[in-house]
Amino acid sequence: TTGFDLVVVSNRLPVDMQQDASGAISWTRSPGGLVTALDPIMKGAEGAWVGWSGAPDFAPEPFDADGTFLVPVPLSEGEIQRYYEGFSNDTLWPLYHDVITPPAYHRTWWDSYRAVNERFAEAAVAQAAEGATIWVHDYQLQLVPALIRQLRPDVRIGYFHHIPFPPFELFQQLPWRRQVIDGLLGADVVGFQRRSDATNFMNCVRRLTAVKPRTNIFSVHSDNGARRLVKAAAFPISIDSHSFDRLAHTDAVKKRAEEIRSDLGDPDVIMLGVDRLDYTKGIRHRIKAYGEILEDGRIDAASTTLIQVASPSRENVKAYRDLRQQVEILVGRINGEYGEIGHSTIHYLHHSYPQDEMAALYLAADVMLVTSLRDGMNLVAKEYVAARHDLGGALVLSEFTGAADELGGAILVNPHDIDGMKDAIVHAANMPSAEARRRMRRLRRKVMHDDVNKWAHNFLASLEDIGQRNEHNG
Ligand code: G6P
Repeated sequence: TTGFDLVVVSNRLPVDMQQDASGAISWTRSPGGLVTALDPIMKGAEGAWVGWSGAPDFAPEPFDADGTFLVPVPLSEGEIQRYYEGFSNDTLWPLYHDVITPPAYHRTWWDSYRAVNERFAEAAVAQAAEGATIWVHDYQLQLVPALIRQLRPDVRIGYFHHIPFPPFELFQQLPWRRQVIDGLLGADVVGFQRRSDATNFMNCVRRLTAVKPRTNIFSVHSDNGARRLVKAAAFPISIDSHSFDRLAHTDAVKKRAEEIRSDLGDPDVIMLGVDRLDYTKGIRHRIKAYGEILEDGRIDAASTTLIQVASPSRENVKAYRDLRQQVEILVGRINGEYGEIGHSTIHYLHHSYPQDEMAALYLAADVMLVTSLRDGMNLVAKEYVAARHDLGGALVLSEFTGAADELGGAILVNPHDIDGMKDAIVHAANMPSAEARRRMRRLRRKVMHDDVNKWAHNFLASLEDIGQRNEHNG
């Protein structure tokens, strides 16, 4: 067979098709951490990347982009509603993020999820050479590993889960829990962000199937009755730290950072939040804490600015529309109270920005606020660290992120504890530069060392190992 030795499958391609009012088509970078991490790995890897184009009923011919063969998979309007907005983002997303908002369970959404997963599996195997590696990504495609195994027993199958995996007591709610576990068990290696996610998954396997894992490499029955090994483990994801560091070193970015500071009227302290506008990110908790600090007079509104970049996300899902309204009311109230002519205390930006502008914002920010209520990893925290080659700035980081397991130099907070978070923010804003430098040096040692190339290498090495052991036994 012809085809590729490496095929990546994810719901989204790294680029997103947009159509303006005149019908003209343009491609922009896709949102979110998955693309941030995978894009640099796939560039020049000469593999194929199978995913949705981002628009309804639109799947142009496969095309080459920077040494990656992009293979668009079509989704209809109805599938976007039921598979993507419905089952992926109104059932699985809230269920897997500690039911911060209640998940909705609809049988028609599940039917669509299954049908779309079948289409992705078929599109993936069509690109795979004999004995290829197919690497499936994220919660939208949990049935794909087992579907691929049925179609192509010759390939190695990896699956990486970018978001949290919930404890059994929550996962149990899902009417299709058994099918999801069986889908994932089709992979040779099932990777997670944190050790606790891998533990939760193995617990669900234990409670829902006849498989009783005793260690994180365990055997399952395959269709032909033989036994096959599956490995479940943590592979904490990262960013292309060195290219981000290089970007933050360019004159253009450094100059832009100074410009941002002066455009804001040279405040004493700039705080920054950067998130998709998502209820898992703790944006309201953070802004509430900020407002109370101003109210208490612990920091001076006239010389402090909070920049909140909230990039538009999943706007057809009601929970996201509701959140947008709540955040905008809160921002308006605080600006009305503490703003002055020529100075708003919160700069709220409902846009997404290219990487160079992000690097400049990170360089300009004295305090970075990452206050998620639940987050698989959070790559914004790692980007901030990679940008701070000057060893300036302080990172306030939620305990409920995967990054908290790794970033010892951050000031860890519980976003539900508003008083604790206020103390941490005030501490970060007044941090003596010796302490800030010491913390940032420690953070950078970790982030610069454990970059996304190392992550991919570790995952693929595990897959190679388990794949070989399975082929040997099979
Ligand atoms: C998170 C998920 C990704 C998703 C991204 C953006 O990072 O892990 O799978 O692609 O958010 O969300 P969206 O729904 O726009 O693809």
